[in-house]
Amino acid sequence: MDVYGLIGRPVEHSLSPPMHEAGFEALGLDARYVTFEPGDAVDAIRGADALGVAGMNVTVPFKQDALGAVEPDDLAARVGAVNTVDFSSDPPTGHNTDVAGVTRALEHHDVSLDGAAAVVVGAGGAARAAAFALAEPAVSLHVANRTEERAGGLADDVRASLPDDLDTPTTVTAGGLDTLADRVPAADLLVNATSVGMESDETPVPAEHLHGDLAVLDAVYAPLDTRLLREARAAGATTVDGAWMLLYQGVEAFERWTGADAPIEAMNAALRSEM
Ligand code: ATR
Repeated sequence: MDVYGLIGRPVEHSLSPPMHEAGFEALGLDARYVTFEPGDAVDAIRGADALGVAGMNVTVPFKQDALGAVEPDDLAARVGAVNTVDFSSDPPTGHNTDVAGVTRALEHHDVSLDGAAAVVVGAGGAARAAAFALAEPAVSLHVANRTEERAGGLADDVRASLPDDLDTPTTVTAGGLDTLADRVPAADLLVNATSVGMESDETPVPAEHLHGDLAVLDAVYAPLDTRLLREARAAGATTVDGAWMLLYQGVEAFERWTGADAPIEAMNAALRSEM
């Protein structure tokens, strides 16, 4: 039997175990997925390696620390965060599937990223994944955050990591939440990567700025139908809920670990049945 795991704190209510186990079952793989709340990420990853664990996900607050125990791939190194460890090589490799989670969630809904004017609200881990996902395909990326300095820091990191040889270099800007009033009406794509709307009926983006040419991805998935998504739908926008991001970061990790095409329908059904 192959053992996969998740380290983070807290992970008690994580939806990754049912999602991955549904995937293993659908493919007839003899594998389990378990959660741990270790004190130290580097010790935990080295210990898991020693025990023969096949693969591991890493969540808050360990995604940066995990870099100290793995050989990061180019993307994980650029983002500065690892959420997936593959123990099939020595040393174990570290990957960031949160970025693909954003890209694939949008692609699943036929949202085109190429040449988009994109706005990311937030500057934490989820915003980082969204900003790195959008920076290359987009023509412009604006990061807006309550704490403006954090938005500026994220925009600087994204700008520094863009390849020099892009045909059309992406314009990356940053500001406070007040800048949403100018940016959202002109945007094609909006990602909420703040925790605003989680277990509450608040929205980070006033409804008056939303419009019908917008695609809106909300990283919040509890509730699934956030006020932002409801107001975006009412404005005629395309909406993508946070479960899709969670699904596709898991799908990408599953495919890396198993080498198989993930049974996306089974994983999605298991995930949504827990919500
Ligand atoms: P994660 O890693 O899950 O993205 P995080 O690093 O705690 O979590 O980031 C949470 C994000 O939500 C931040 O952008 C935070 O803004 P600050 O950087 O100003 O803290 C944003 N956020 C949380 N509560 C908020 C609120 N009430 N209004 C606006 N933004 C909020």
